[in-house]
Amino acid sequence: MEFEVNRVEVISQVVCEMLENIENPYERQAGYVHLFGVSQMAALLAQKRNLSVEIAQIAGLLHDYYAYMTGDREKHASKGADMVLPLLAKTGLFSVCEVANISKAILGHSDKEKTDGTPYEELLKDADVLQHVLYNASLPVEEKYAVRYAKLKEELGLI
Ligand SMILES: [Fe+2]
Ligand SMILES: [Fe+2]
Repeated sequence: MEFEVNRVEVISQVVCEMLENIENPYERQAGYVHLFGVSQMAALLAQKRNLSVEIAQIAGLLHDYYAYMTGDREKHASKGADMVLPLLAKTGLFSVCEVANISKAILGHSDKEKTDGTPYEELLKDADVLQHVLYNASLPVEEKYAVRYAKLKEELGLI
């Protein structure tokens, strides 16, 4: 029987291997919750927006890879966008265009107030916001997430 490679599983494994090495258990747990949470939110939004669920999930899984791996959040979007290039190339599973879409989405994901990014860029920002807000939906929505979250609720028919 031929073994079919599932790209989301491959990248999930890469992310898990990185997270396993985080010494602080709280930080490690936060990494699992956030990266897999954003990936799931990205899948939901990709279905709604007719984008590739697979590419959206993989961008979600990798978007804060650099920050969790190094513990350094300073310019983690641009550093992470560079870091995923060899990481994705090494798997041999992604086209040049797919790598570019994922890297570009990661590059722009911290600029939440900008709304003119590529479809995957905006999707990733939105997935990031959804995960932060829905991690504990009983808390008030932080101001920095309020505008995007209100738009998302509208898009998803929640208001
Ligand atoms: Fe981030
Ligand atoms: Fe994030």
